[in-house]
Amino acid sequence: MTAVNPLAGKALSSFLAGKVAIVTGGNSGIGKAIVEQLAQLGAKVVIDYRSNPEATEDLEEQIGAYGGCSFGVQADVSKLEDLQRLIQAAVTRYGRLDVMVNNAGVETRTSILDTTPEDYDKVLNVNLRGVFFSTQYAARQMISQGGGGRVINISSVHEDWPMPNNTPYCLSKGGMRMLTRTAGVELAPHGVTVVNVGPGAVATPINDATMNDPKLLAQLNAAIPLGRMAQPEEIAAVVGFLASDAASYITATTIFADGGIMQSSPGL
Ligand SMILES: NC(=O)c1ccc[n+]([C@@H]2O[C@H](COP(=O)([O-])OP(=O)(O)OC[C@H]3O[C@@H](n4cnc5c(N)ncnc54)[C@H](O)[C@@H]3O)[C@@H](O)[C@H]2O)c1
Repeated sequence: MTAVNPLAGKALSSFLAGKVAIVTGGNSGIGKAIVEQLAQLGAKVVIDYRSNPEATEDLEEQIGAYGGCSFGVQADVSKLEDLQRLIQAAVTRYGRLDVMVNNAGVETRTSILDTTPEDYDKVLNVNLRGVFFSTQYAARQMISQGGGGRVINISSVHEDWPMPNNTPYCLSKGGMRMLTRTAGVELAPHGVTVVNVGPGAVATPINDATMNDPKLLAQLNAAIPLGRMAQPEEIAAVVGFLASDAASYITATTIFADGGIMQSSPGL
């Protein structure tokens, strides 16, 4: 078989030309950077958001300014009817779905001793149940339209690493680890790949408490071999690659983007 570089001769802005992507939790933090990255690579992007419609409108405007295509859909990924409506909105407007990015995530920072059933349900319903059914609905759409597709889940180093006092979060990301491995194997015959991106510490509002405390931030930076937190764009770049034809042979696994921390520290 002759090796062919699937991206050879393509302009960066057309790597994802003709592809339609959905990004959940797409109007802030890592999700926003992913939306921008996919749009810059030429995809048509549906921006799922739960709150702050103004931020979504700003993002749509910014993408439109350079000729990109996007639109926002308010949908709560923990509600199955919202997930179905989200995917239907992409298909109705753009005709298909090629890339499903499950990025929306929450945490409660509660220990196993004081986690309430409400805390548990909140985290698991968004981070795991939402991702499970989003993967199912997206894969059904990809299989029915033909040509395969990509499911990309934003997991965490905590899919492997314990984080005391964040038990439900670790449980959800650990579940996502096996969801991706199992779904990746099961969906491979249909050409649908399923991959996790596992960030380490990323400079987003979720980490404001650490970033605003110079002592804590210095401690964290010292534990990271690259010496700093990631910027959201550095996670989005991995997603852009995974969504492209260059990543056609990657499935049922996790790509970590953690500055090396998992190899150097016993846990955070
Ligand atoms: N920031 C980090 O250090 C870090 C590290 C590893 C993994 N992650 C993961 O990255 C993802 C994005 O996190 P972030 O750091 O950008 O934080 P963030 O709080 O900015 O983003 C989370 C997004 O999910 C949305 N969301 C929450 N519940 C939702 C729901 N029910 N329906 C739809 N959207 C919902 C929020 O509105 C928000 O836009 C999460 O899955 C998180 O677990 C973050």
